[in-house]
Amino acid sequence: MCGIVGMINGHPVASDLVSGIQRLEYRGYDSAGVATVDGGQIRRRRAVGPVSALRSLVDQVPLPGHAGIAHTRWATHGAPSEANAHPHVVGAVGVVHNGIIENHDELRDELLAIGRTFESQTDTEVVAHLLDLALESCGDPMMALREVSTRLEGSFAIGMIVSSDPDALYATCRNGPLVVAQEPGAAYLASDGSAIAPFVDAIQVLECGDRAELRRGHIRVLDERDREVERPTRSVRESEAEAGMGEFPSFMMKEIHEQPEVLERQLAAYVDGATGAIRLPVETLADKDQLILSACGTSYYACLLARYWFEEIAGMPCRVDLASELRYRNPALSDRHGAIFVSQSGETADTLAALRLVESVGMRSLAIVNVEESAMAREASFVIGTLAGTERGVASTKAFTAQLFALLCSAIELGRLRGRIADDEVQSLINEVLHTIPQAVILTIACSARLQAYAESLASQPRAIFVGRGPSFPLAMEGALKLKEIAYVHAEGFAAGELKHGPLALIEEGTPVIAIAPHDALFEKSLSNVQEAAARGAAPFILTDADGIGRALKLGDALVIPQVPALAQPFAYATALQLIAHHAATAAGNDVDRPRNLAKSVTVE
Ligand code: G6P
Repeated sequence: MCGIVGMINGHPVASDLVSGIQRLEYRGYDSAGVATVDGGQIRRRRAVGPVSALRSLVDQVPLPGHAGIAHTRWATHGAPSEANAHPHVVGAVGVVHNGIIENHDELRDELLAIGRTFESQTDTEVVAHLLDLALESCGDPMMALREVSTRLEGSFAIGMIVSSDPDALYATCRNGPLVVAQEPGAAYLASDGSAIAPFVDAIQVLECGDRAELRRGHIRVLDERDREVERPTRSVRESEAEAGMGEFPSFMMKEIHEQPEVLERQLAAYVDGATGAIRLPVETLADKDQLILSACGTSYYACLLARYWFEEIAGMPCRVDLASELRYRNPALSDRHGAIFVSQSGETADTLAALRLVESVGMRSLAIVNVEESAMAREASFVIGTLAGTERGVASTKAFTAQLFALLCSAIELGRLRGRIADDEVQSLINEVLHTIPQAVILTIACSARLQAYAESLASQPRAIFVGRGPSFPLAMEGALKLKEIAYVHAEGFAAGELKHGPLALIEEGTPVIAIAPHDALFEKSLSNVQEAAARGAAPFILTDADGIGRALKLGDALVIPQVPALAQPFAYATALQLIAHHAATAAGNDVDRPRNLAKSVTVE
C-alpha cells in the first residue's frame, strides 16, 4: 500500500513525479505529495484526495528542483489529511515511505524525550526524524539509512532527499517492493516498474535490505552487508508502459476486455504447441496426499473454485485457507502436503507470511503470481506467472480469470501425472475446454448491455444475495465481493443449498437474488433454492445458458450466458459478474478504479 516514486534528471522533475504516482494510484489514493531539493532547501506540495488534486496544485504553483520524491497514500497511521500526507520533511531530510514501522510508538517516545516535536500521526515522520539525527551525526546519507534501518521493525520501502545535495536520491527497502532505473543523465526509483515505465527502458529490482544512491546516470546499490552489488536488470514490459484507459471508461473495464487476450497468451505459454503437453512446474505436487491452497480476497475465491478442479480432475484432496488465518493458526503441516499460494501482486502481506511459514518448515511452495519479480515469486520454490500484464483496477478482473486458467491447467497436468487422465483425454481437455475459454469470455462481454440494464437496478438496493452450487458457489462469493468493493451494495455469496439455513431471513419484497446457474447436474437444485427465495418476495436474476433459460424465465428475470463445456463456464460467469459490478458502480456514480477505503496492493496485515 502507498506508492513511492523518485526522480533525478537535468530539468524540473515535479510534474513527472506526479505522473509517476498517478500510475501508482492503485496502491492508495487518500492523499498525495511531492518534494524536491532546490537551492539547499526541500520544497513540497501536498493535497488530500486522489493524485489529481496534487496535479492541480503543482500546475498552479510549479516546484523547481531537478531531484525529488513523491507519494500516494493509503492511510494506516493517521487519517487522510495534509499533515499526514508524505513527503515528511524534518530538518535536512525529506522522506516518502511505503509499509509499516511496527515499533514507531517506542521510537516516537524516545524522540519526544530528546525534544523532537511531531507534525503528523504517521509512523513515517518518526523515520524522518531518525534519518535527520543520523545524518547530523554521520554526515553520510547512505550510512544514515543503514543506521536507521537497523532500528526499524516492520516492512518498508523508503525514498529520501537531503537538502544539502540537489543531485542525489537515496532509497532502501525491507520486505517492501522497490525498483530503480538509470538512463543517460537521469535516475529513478519507484514501488513498481509501471510508475517509471514511460521514462526508462529497463529496471533493477532491489532486494530485502538493499540501499541505493541514485545520481544522474548512475546508481550505486549496497546490500545488507554493505557490499556493492549489481541487481539483475530487466526490460520494461509493454503493459507497464501503457499509458491510459484508451476507449474504456475505467481501467477495470479495459481489463475486463483484455481477458480473452490474456487467456490466449496463457494458452500459448502453458501448452507446448508441438507436443500438446502442459508445461507447468507442478510435478512435485503429484505424489502429495493433500493440497493446501491459500490467498486473500479475490485470489482466495480463485483457490476455492480451483478446489473443485483439483479434486475432480486430479483426485487430490484439497483444503483452502485464507492466508491471514493460516499464518496464525499453527496449521498441521507435513511433507505429505503440497502448498499453493495465489496472488496477483505477489506482495500481499498475509499471503507472503503464509508462504514463508510453509517454506520455513521445509515444505516447498508453488506461487501463482501476476507480478513476476514480486517477493512471493522470489521466495517460492516454484512459480507460475499468470501473464495478465499490469492490472490497475483495484477490483481484480483479468488477474482473477488468469489465476483460474493457471489453476485449471495445473489441475489437468496433475491429473495426468497422477494417472487419473490419459494423454488423449488431456488433448481433448486442451482442445475442447481450454481453447474455448477466450471465446466464451468474448461472447459474455457481448452481453454487456443487457447486464448493464439489470445492474442499474441493483445500484440503489440496500443488499444483494448471490447464490450458486459447485464451482458457482465460489463465483457467487466473488460476484458479491465485486459488488461490495465498487458499488458499495452490501452483498453476500451463499451456497444455494444454504439459503434455508439462515440467509432466507434476509429476504424482503424485491431483494435481489443473483443465481449463477448453468444448466448442469445441479441446475434443478439451484433453481429450487431460487424458487424458495422468490416465494418469500425475492427478485431473482438467473444467469444460465440456452438449455436453462426456459426454466429460469419462469422464476424471474434471467440471462443467457454462452453455452460452453462445464470446466470453461466459470470464466464466462465470472466475466458477467464483473460487468454487473462495474455497471452498478457506474450507475451509482462511483469511481470504479478508486473504490473508497481500498487499495489494490495490501502490504499490511
Ligand atoms: C486487495 C485487492 C483485491 C485482491 C486482494 C489480494 O484486497 O483489492 O483485489 O484480491 O488484495 O491481493 P493479491 O495481490 O494477493 O491477489
